[in-house]
Amino acid sequence: MSIIRVNLGAKSYNIEIAAGLLDTAGEKIRSISKAQRAAVISDSNVDALYGKRLQAALAGSGFKVTRIVFPAGEKSKCLAELAKIYDRLAEAGITRSDLVVALGGGVTGDLGGFAAATFLRGVDYVQIPTSLLAQIDSSVGGKVAVDLPAGKNLVGNFYQPKLVLIDTMLLKTLPVRFLHDGLAEAIKYGCIRDRALFEKIAAMRDDDELLENIGGIVERCCAIKAEIVEHDEFDTGERMVLNFGHTIGHAVEKCSNYESFTHGEAVGIGMLLLTRQTELFGLTERETAAAIYDVLKKYNLPVDADYGNEELLKAAGMDKKKSGSSITLVILKNIGTSFLQKTNWQDLPEYIKRG
Ligand SMILES: NC(=O)c1ccc[n+]([C@@H]2O[C@H](COP(=O)([O-])OP(=O)(O)OC[C@H]3O[C@@H](n4cnc5c(N)ncnc54)[C@H](O)[C@@H]3O)[C@@H](O)[C@H]2O)c1
Ligand SMILES: [Zn+2]
Repeated sequence: MSIIRVNLGAKSYNIEIAAGLLDTAGEKIRSISKAQRAAVISDSNVDALYGKRLQAALAGSGFKVTRIVFPAGEKSKCLAELAKIYDRLAEAGITRSDLVVALGGGVTGDLGGFAAATFLRGVDYVQIPTSLLAQIDSSVGGKVAVDLPAGKNLVGNFYQPKLVLIDTMLLKTLPVRFLHDGLAEAIKYGCIRDRALFEKIAAMRDDDELLENIGGIVERCCAIKAEIVEHDEFDTGERMVLNFGHTIGHAVEKCSNYESFTHGEAVGIGMLLLTRQTELFGLTERETAAAIYDVLKKYNLPVDADYGNEELLKAAGMDKKKSGSSITLVILKNIGTSFLQKTNWQDLPEYIKRG
């Protein structure tokens, strides 16, 4: 087992990573909480697979458990579903000294985390992420949110968990498309900070070998994210480096109406398209885009999207990270080294260019 400490003063917490952690979650959570009641929030898929096991583990450590289940999918990350969760928390008699546990993917973490952040002005919560994306990205860093019809993550907060428990065995039931979706973010961490991580992912023979080695990959990704978050809890500077591939990625997601491409798939396309251009400008070492292309292909991740440059630019212009007349792009020097570059808005077409 490995433990990564996220140092945020009074809000510090541990990320514990091991295969099989779910069944010991009761003791682990008891060590950080005196709560009488625990509300476990999950989506319908994850609850059916793991809800009872977690309930038993928590009950074994003296928690009175209520399971709150919402329909799986991004559509549930909304105010209507949040309101239902508040009602269930109230019915269960959750008080400010009780606990919320978010058991699931990024949707559950964001929705359950935001419910915890706001119910009774804040109740302690624990993340037990079950998708690869949630294990390496959304469960760490304290961003919680719901979507509005006007856009994703428009209502939210920074609210750190008390503990993150990562059981990599749970990934065995994750549909392969979501495994690869999360892997795109792991590839991103390799690109921005860790060449050895990138090479490790690229060297795996197949998904079986990947899953056998996933513990080490998850650990490295969490360590990188934890370090970045420690330096920039509220996302005003260094944390922007995590957005590598995301300006174009968000544009691709938007053009596809959030349907044809998952987030990770769109980010993969974004990393590749941007790096092709920055290589042409001499900002990025040669062969970097080719290395990204090869690893995306290996995991059946798409390497292009059939949208025109104009269409992508328009969608990127709506990106909420746009501020004033310039936009900050994350650019690779090579695999493992990245830098931030403020770019004039009018120069963006040079960077968002297909073909
Ligand atoms: N807070 C952050 O910092 C942050 C960062 C990145 C993404 N996000 C958010 O995360 C969300 C996407 O997360 P996601 O891709 O995990 O989506 P998700 O939570 O919808 O999970 C994807 C699918 O996998 C299923 N699933 C999850 N774990 C499983 C398991 N172990 N076995 C079988 N099925 C399983 C889910 O039921 C769902 O159908 C988005 O809403 C995004 O905005 C948040
Ligand atoms: Zn992302």
